[in-house]
Amino acid sequence: MKGIILAGGLGTRLYPLTKATNKHLLPVGREPMLYHSIKQLINAGMRDILTITSTDHMGDVVQCLGSGKEFGCRLSYKVQEEAGGIAHALALAEDFSGSDRICVLLGDNIFEYSIAPYVQDFLNQKDGARVLIKEVGDPERYGVAAMDEHHILDIEEKPANPKSSFAVVGLYLYGPDVFEIIRNTEISDRGELEITAVNNVYIGNNQLQYSICKGRWTDAGTIESLFEASKILLENDNRILPH
Ligand code: G1P
Repeated sequence: MKGIILAGGLGTRLYPLTKATNKHLLPVGREPMLYHSIKQLINAGMRDILTITSTDHMGDVVQCLGSGKEFGCRLSYKVQEEAGGIAHALALAEDFSGSDRICVLLGDNIFEYSIAPYVQDFLNQKDGARVLIKEVGDPERYGVAAMDEHHILDIEEKPANPKSSFAVVGLYLYGPDVFEIIRNTEISDRGELEITAVNNVYIGNNQLQYSICKGRWTDAGTIESLFEASKILLENDNRILPH
């Protein structure tokens, strides 16, 4: 299984902090944000990790992470030349992924606990995809899962009237079939290839499983959530808790 970190985007909600740097290089607790994703993926057993970021800050990202030697993994990099959405960025990982299963992390997502059990749940799955969900107080900020007792019925991206309080977290587990699905996905009204559209294809095929995220989780894309992310990690000295 291979790991993919999506670290592009303009970080406009954090402006002016992101005027001269990439959001994913900002400090969270004691370390640059990207360290957390790398450590999570390694913790979950991955040793081959691809980071995708935009042209303007690629040099700084490589400067920050290096070859992976420091972390005990192999790091590769790929440039996303224009901000076209999460699925657009993921499409760039096709050659890297080959015939392997992949664990995709949004680089601004911070988890108090290890993601290893969710990855294991996916490895125990015969096929399809798996997402992680978390009950939140402000679901309209996220992809929101409409649920029955056992299944996700539909995911809506940033709905004005959310059908549940379960946000779909920025951790996605896919097989190599995801790239064909992305190729058949249409650009959304806001001009992006949405990961939510990709996940809805798996739902339509009855192939989307989910796990519920344990402990605290936040994105770090706004000033408030960046502070929350720092709080979570500082309390544990930037260590990831085992389950
Ligand atoms: C993205 C996804 C959204 C998901 C969120 C998690 O939103 O589009 O479905 O819930 O990440 O952090 P963004 O934060 O890029 O707007």
